[in-house]
Amino acid sequence: MTVRVRVPATTANLGPGFDSLGMALQLYNEIELDVIDQGLEFEVTGVGVEMVPPTSENVIYKAVQCVFDQLGKRRPGLALRLHNAVPVTRGLGSSAAAIVGGLVAANELCNRPFTEDQLLDLAVTLEGHPDNVAPALLGGIVVSGVVNGKTRYVKLPVPKDLVCVVVVPDFPLPTKESRKVLPGAVSFRDAVHNVNRASLLVAALATGDVDTMGAVMEDVLHEPYRMPLVPGMAEAAAAGRAAGAAGVALSGSGPTLIAFCRNGSEGPVGPAMVETWRRAGVEATWMVLCPDDRGVCVSTVDALRPEVLDVTPP
Ligand code: HSE
Repeated sequence: MTVRVRVPATTANLGPGFDSLGMALQLYNEIELDVIDQGLEFEVTGVGVEMVPPTSENVIYKAVQCVFDQLGKRRPGLALRLHNAVPVTRGLGSSAAAIVGGLVAANELCNRPFTEDQLLDLAVTLEGHPDNVAPALLGGIVVSGVVNGKTRYVKLPVPKDLVCVVVVPDFPLPTKESRKVLPGAVSFRDAVHNVNRASLLVAALATGDVDTMGAVMEDVLHEPYRMPLVPGMAEAAAAGRAAGAAGVALSGSGPTLIAFCRNGSEGPVGPAMVETWRRAGVEATWMVLCPDDRGVCVSTVDALRPEVLDVTPP
């Protein structure tokens, strides 16, 4: 019995949409889950393996365990295999991919006791904010928030001519650290600025207007506070815009920068940003990624035997 899940990287915030906007990207982790006689076996391959603990401390494992806990069932012995492609703790949703991948794989193994919305609520509880886990689960561009304890979301169409360049520095920045530097309160003026830019951004996305999207990226709620944690960030972002990007934002809590480009104009953007960052003393690599519109996929499921798991829906 094998469940195989493919889960995308995500970029959160999209500039001014702090904790509210996110987009799935065509870069995928693959997770396989097998029921075995007993215990926990773990195998990790791919990028950043040294940062992914192959133990019960692993975020995928915790998400899998969460499904069994919610069902009030003992988990069977499991073999978990991860092929990791999403850079770890770089601002591309590695923990959201782990959470969504683990929840969906375990849900599949248990014959789908939870609906998509229930899985999303579990994922938001595990992650603490919805803006990465929602697009990891649903794909596309997702506006999301927790309203009266339930995750509300609206999926927006992905603009047809949008291409992203992600520029990934060679140092990690855990979200926990990057949230610690945020202020406890902001001025009315800054709040109004972000309400305005985020509203314009959502309207631009809804109408496929990449130019307006790029023009309204400026954020004053989180990026200025995070800038000291990411040396050379402002210069690299400016180089991306000068090289033709419509807009550049910190991807999630950083340190990765994401440049939003009209299809065909992305060519010089990555090299210009990498070179500028190098001059500021930061080594980085770049990738061109298109938005993913599918979200998590269960790509192969052989011979489920739910009776082995003794699982009944909650
Ligand atoms: N919205 C979150 C933040 C994303 O910026 O802290 C982090 O994954």
